[in-house]
Amino acid sequence: MYKLVSFISLALIAQRASAASPVWGQCGGIGWTGETTCVSGTTCVYQNDWYSQCLPSTTTAPTTTQPGTTTAPPPTSTGSGLDGKFKGRGKKFWGSAADPNTLNIAANAAILRSDFGQVTPENSMKWDATESSRGSFNFGNSDTLVNWAVSNGKLIRGHTLVWHSQLPSWVSSIGDRATLTSVIQNHIANVAGRYRGKLYAWDVVNECLNENGSLRSSVFFNVLGESFVTIAFQAARAADPNAKLYINDYNLDSNNAKVQGMVSLVKRIGTSLIDGIGTQMHLGAGGAGGAQAALSALASAGVKEVAITELDIAGASSNDYVTVVNACLAVPACIGITSWGVSDANSWRSGSTPLLFDSSYRPKPAYNAVIAAL
Ligand code: G3I
Repeated sequence: MYKLVSFISLALIAQRASAASPVWGQCGGIGWTGETTCVSGTTCVYQNDWYSQCLPSTTTAPTTTQPGTTTAPPPTSTGSGLDGKFKGRGKKFWGSAADPNTLNIAANAAILRSDFGQVTPENSMKWDATESSRGSFNFGNSDTLVNWAVSNGKLIRGHTLVWHSQLPSWVSSIGDRATLTSVIQNHIANVAGRYRGKLYAWDVVNECLNENGSLRSSVFFNVLGESFVTIAFQAARAADPNAKLYINDYNLDSNNAKVQGMVSLVKRIGTSLIDGIGTQMHLGAGGAGGAQAALSALASAGVKEVAITELDIAGASSNDYVTVVNACLAVPACIGITSWGVSDANSWRSGSTPLLFDSSYRPKPAYNAVIAAL
């Protein structure tokens, strides 16, 4: 009997000694009593005094789990993460939407550091967030996002300067051309001007098209006609001359009437003003089949680049995600993909579980399929 108990004890000790936290698992922090070693191929990375996490091993990651003993350099995405792998295939970035509300979640921020090379403010640079009253600007959350990106070595896509939605009523009630022109110019001078030289790109005009490719009814179109697009791009160029200036829209997911309308609009406005076309790609399950044709058609407008700017896919099937990745890889003008968030927990459509990490910040099968495809 004694021998049997001893054997079981030894087996339990041996099992405990060989256990290690899984990838993305916690491995340290004040009050943490669980495993402090990580499974092979991952490294325990200090995030803050309360939280260390097993991340895919990188060449630059710090290895300490002891709070306070190391000043951890921010790990940048490397060859083993989404962004690193995508760059290895000649692309500029794989990014994610972010903002202070998600940067404040340690597990979310750790994945942004390890797997994403670019961030887009999900809400903090919109008109209602930055200029809710005329001439009174608020940059609290957008500054936080920009400072985080700069200190973590991430590119930034600004989003967005002129959009009919999330627009304060003081703007949508303007009825004359001179006032609206000057309000657009002042908004862009202040918002884009604040971050001059820091952003990779701006979504200057967002969602200006109907499904048939014509210009959508909005205060901008109704008062200024199509000229509002030129007014906005000229103001953005003056405010931040080196940022890539994009026009961005949704349902550009196959070579459809809206894609053709976008191509015509960009040609009319001119590719000396418009550098890039963004296709958001909020897809339904099984909806990725037209992505490559759409990207090719958009590139045919003669823009310098196209990008997938807000990717999420209902159900997040591996097949759908790999189809989108292969579409971007196959079109040279497609320079990057931005996921519209990291984890299903914080997605605008979380009920559709559309992202690459589940609501517990664990990578989903689609994440592994994308990594394998890259
Ligand atoms: O911050 C307030 C909070 O104080 C308040 O208690 C709460 C109550 O509703 O609202 C919070 O604001 C919400 C905000 O997200 C931040 O969570 C807004 O109501 C909500 O409308 C807003 O939704 C955003 C939506 O754009 C509208 O701007 C989503 O997060 C964001 O993912 C979504 O992103 C858009 C892109 O900008 C353009 N393309 C489509 C895409 C998805 O809709």
